[in-house]
Amino acid sequence: MKRIVSGIQPTGNLHLGNYLGAVKNWVDLQNSKDYEIYFFIADLHSLTGKLEASKLKEQTKILIAELLALGIDHKKVVFFRQSDVVGHTDLAWIFDCVTPVSELYRMTQFKDKSGNQPKNINSGLLTYPILQAADILLYQGELVPVGEDQVQHVELTRDIARWFNNKYGQYFVETKAKLTHIPRVKSLLAPDKKMSKSLGEGHVIDLADEPEVILKKLNKAVTATEGGGESMGVANLLLLLKEFADKKTYESFVRAEKDKTIRYGDLKKVLAENIAEHFKEFRKKRAEYLKNSVKLEKIMADGAKKAQKQAEKTMAEVRKLVGLR
Ligand code: ADP
Ligand code: TRP
Repeated sequence: MKRIVSGIQPTGNLHLGNYLGAVKNWVDLQNSKDYEIYFFIADLHSLTGKLEASKLKEQTKILIAELLALGIDHKKVVFFRQSDVVGHTDLAWIFDCVTPVSELYRMTQFKDKSGNQPKNINSGLLTYPILQAADILLYQGELVPVGEDQVQHVELTRDIARWFNNKYGQYFVETKAKLTHIPRVKSLLAPDKKMSKSLGEGHVIDLADEPEVILKKLNKAVTATEGGGESMGVANLLLLLKEFADKKTYESFVRAEKDKTIRYGDLKKVLAENIAEHFKEFRKKRAEYLKNSVKLEKIMADGAKKAQKQAEKTMAEVRKLVGLR
């Protein structure tokens, strides 16, 4: 059976970018009968960043609770924590040895992140996409639901599979990214950039934000046009409205924008109400899951057991192929 694989780092609360670009797709895909599905918390990847140990632990718990609250069903998918499974870092080492270092220096995310953390350009930041390739290929993942910013890493995964197969014989499958219809949600304050935690709190709307916080953030969202062109900020807000409001409301604002009768204060208020309403149930479930650490740990342990089975099979075959056994 074909496999879907994707992961997400426990670096902060889920925001609208993560949701519309990736996680919403995860929830939709899990009912697919054609694929076996692996979703995981990429906690090893987050060691490349600045989170201190206690914060990483806390964010991991929050991310597990948030994914479950969004509807990830651990009975339908293998849902686990990367560091619980032996094999991810083993396979990454083997991939290190077939990947030209020049390919890693080309990665946009490496360039961005080394710019953002100039005092901490650790080796993990550079080899990050190799660990990601291992995450995917350990389970022979063919489809990888992610946002647009991760497409380059998925393409590198395909290259790594090819380099490995050329050297050791055909073994790994071809991997493809799967995007949603909104693969790149923009920042509220800098709509030329993607919505991202690393830009700061005011740039993102968290799924767990209370209604008044959502309105406060939206009220500060940039709507000004630059150079007389169409405002990227407004386009982004309308895109969100299309996603969260009913069709009639959305169309009335689109018309008003065209007629230039639109009042951005109204747009923001209506959008804030619709987003808050959409995630009302989520906020409740999230709080409930967070009270139940034992249950969360049990779900992770069960997921790891299932993932470990496949990981061991792949690693046994890979060890033979490369001549270690
Ligand atoms: P962040 O950039 O906030 O740190 P992550 O890198 O943890 O987010 O992203 C997790 C997932 O969410 C990835 O699949 C990524 O492509 C997707 N994603 C992140 N930000 C956005 C965005 N603004 N628009 C669409 N998808 C996004
Ligand atoms: N690099 C991804 C991100 O920042 C997270 C990730 C780690 C991932 N391993 C993966 C995504 C494997 C898809 C498949 O969002």
